[in-house]
Amino acid sequence: MLVATCVLSIIFLLESCSGDRFSHLFSEDVSNISFPDDFLWGYASAAYQVEGGWDADGKSESVWDYDAHNHPDWFPEGQNGDVACDAYHKTDVDIALLKYQGVKAYRFSIAWPRVLPTGRIDDINEKGIQYYQDLISKLKANNIEPIVTMHHWDHPRVIEEQGGFLNESLIIPAFLEYATLLWERFGDDVKWWTTFNEPKQTCGGGYDYGSVSPNRQDPGRGGYICAHNLLRAHAKAYKIYNEQFRAKQNGKVSLVMDTSWYEPASDDPKDIEAAQRKNLFNYGWFAHPVVYGDYPEVMRERIAERSRLQNLSESRLPSFTEEEKAELKGSYDFLTINMYSTELAKWRDDEPAGEPSIYDDTSVTTYQPDDWEKTITSWFKVVPWGARREVVWIRDNYGDDKGILVTENGYHDDGNNMTDLGTRGRYHKLYLSNINDAIYKDGVNVIGYMAWSLMNDVEWYSGWQINLGHYHVDFYSDERTRTPKESAGYYRKVVTTNCLVDDCEAPPKR
Ligand code: BGC
Repeated sequence: MLVATCVLSIIFLLESCSGDRFSHLFSEDVSNISFPDDFLWGYASAAYQVEGGWDADGKSESVWDYDAHNHPDWFPEGQNGDVACDAYHKTDVDIALLKYQGVKAYRFSIAWPRVLPTGRIDDINEKGIQYYQDLISKLKANNIEPIVTMHHWDHPRVIEEQGGFLNESLIIPAFLEYATLLWERFGDDVKWWTTFNEPKQTCGGGYDYGSVSPNRQDPGRGGYICAHNLLRAHAKAYKIYNEQFRAKQNGKVSLVMDTSWYEPASDDPKDIEAAQRKNLFNYGWFAHPVVYGDYPEVMRERIAERSRLQNLSESRLPSFTEEEKAELKGSYDFLTINMYSTELAKWRDDEPAGEPSIYDDTSVTTYQPDDWEKTITSWFKVVPWGARREVVWIRDNYGDDKGILVTENGYHDDGNNMTDLGTRGRYHKLYLSNINDAIYKDGVNVIGYMAWSLMNDVEWYSGWQINLGHYHVDFYSDERTRTPKESAGYYRKVVTTNCLVDDCEAPPKR
């Protein structure tokens, strides 16, 4: 019957048969092996999503503030970051929650326009510095390791007005001034740094196909230019850390990469090649340069060829100089992955070279079978086994000797379900069980896990219609009251016992 159905149509084949092919991987079994004693458990957040205080104490407008104020229709019913969770005024409340949850680390971002309102070093906002100094000191006083992201999408609007990430002669020096300032002021206390959050989203969403502020659209071009400048800024910042700060501060620096996991849709070698290509065009776009010093060969070749077919005089993918390659190579002290979902990847014949497009450059069809478990968000299905395959792939392609930190993982719903043990709690449990298998069965060096997120927040252009928090936030009260959901209780149990179930066995000696 299945065979008969499968030959009916290609579409049916993709959606029905492929789902069946993977169904045995969807296990509810949960590992009972303890996580390593030194596993770094934490929460992750971003300034725009939680802080509020958008113009408090000398902060200038970020690109997101600009959108909220000039395109209010892009945000549902005024649900923007002007006040957000008011974390700017609630450091003590939030530290108490983190402490209660038992986490060892808190990943948060610094709002560039809060410390440098002009974007440049000429005007340091000491009150902004003070806010982060206070947050960092209190985290440390409570034995919570700060993990700081320098840019989580909210650069100063004034930088954007001069071209933002497309303007290499501005963004690179401006970012280096900013990074240097953060190391000067906070580097004695902060040992974990990441320069940029999700450059794929910053650049793809911000400058190519839209969806992330500044939402400028230049398909097939803008994303590559932005990424090129961002990667060069990252590498130069890493070099500054090495030359000026590392000996004294002895911290670690990386950048936060994200991707869905792309699994071959079948055993057909063409689908296997398509999935590898898709993973390289996504994770490899950034991992390859920082590990090996250049973009993946498949990206360089395909984009050059398609640019040629488009009668362009040079590739839409810029190239690095030899000096830049040398700076990029090895510019990380740990690998990172923001993981949420998985898609199947199927070979697609190349589109005729028409208008430039990042998607056409890759030339892979991706989809999620209908029978995979849905969340509130169209691209987001619950696929725990993808987490294991993803970290194995990262190890196999980029090595894990410096460790792989899961810098984000969490579950989308409308944020209001307080009894979320069977949804969000189960999501973390099953993803973590797969990560636990990757550690013990596949020998992958995963060093920690940051759940997204401690509390509901402003999910960018979705306001608080979509949320991932373990604590509910009452966005309609001045207090922005935080109330634990069931998932908070489960995660607390996990991080305080290192164990996903009631009782765990000690890990094998590694
Ligand atoms: C971003 C977060 C966001 C999360 C959940 C990630 O892409 O880094 O800022 O809230 O996804 O959708």
